[in-house]
Amino acid sequence: MIEIKRADSTHVQGIAEVCAQANRATYGEIYAKEYLEEIIAKYYTPERIAEEVGSPTRAWGGYWVAVEKDRVIGAGGGGMIGDAESEIFALYVSPDRRNEGIGSLLIEAITAQQKEFGAAAQWISVQKGNHKGIPFYEARGFELQGEEEEEHGYLSLRYKRVI
Ligand SMILES: CC(C)(COP(=O)(O)OP(=O)(O)OC[C@H]1O[C@@H](n2cnc3c(N)ncnc32)[C@H](O)[C@@H]1OP(=O)(O)O)[C@@H](O)C(=O)NCCC(=O)NCCS
Repeated sequence: MIEIKRADSTHVQGIAEVCAQANRATYGEIYAKEYLEEIIAKYYTPERIAEEVGSPTRAWGGYWVAVEKDRVIGAGGGGMIGDAESEIFALYVSPDRRNEGIGSLLIEAITAQQKEFGAAAQWISVQKGNHKGIPFYEARGFELQGEEEEEHGYLSLRYKRVI
């Protein structure tokens, strides 16, 4: 049985592992290896995640996890970026568990939380060329709004949907 819940300190290690694995599996062919490892070392260390599983705020609703037999198999979270606009900041499923509906369950839980904060539209940034992420968001009703340049000249795509 897969359970979706707000993460606590017992999930920190599992979140770090899933996010690091999913980042490597997804961006290995898009980003230079050094840049990819820089991102993982910045955002997905147990130390940083431990700080991010605390009490939710409007700006960061905390991590949500998909847990099966005490193992984290997916993680994600987001926050409000305006009065009625929210964003999904991270969403990762264990590479060997993709396309089983886990990402959909996670985004549903995060969306319900953001609606409680008053969100009517939801944004997501996805790396151009991320063929593991883009079809998922398009299937969930997100529509392309434009491109944005990131560090080192990489391009990300801004998607939005009504929620
Ligand atoms: C994106 C991600 C979180 C989605 O989670 P998931 O558990 O694999 O997704 P689900 O099984 O819930 O849903 C898959 C949906 O995407 C659709 N989909 C997936 N791959 C597809 C493809 N190649 N073409 C068309 N549709 C596709 C499926 O049809 C399904 O939609 P449906 O339920 O309406 O049929 C997950 O795949 C992942 O971690 N990817 C790598 C990391 C990543 O890119 N994260 C996003 C960074 S912004």
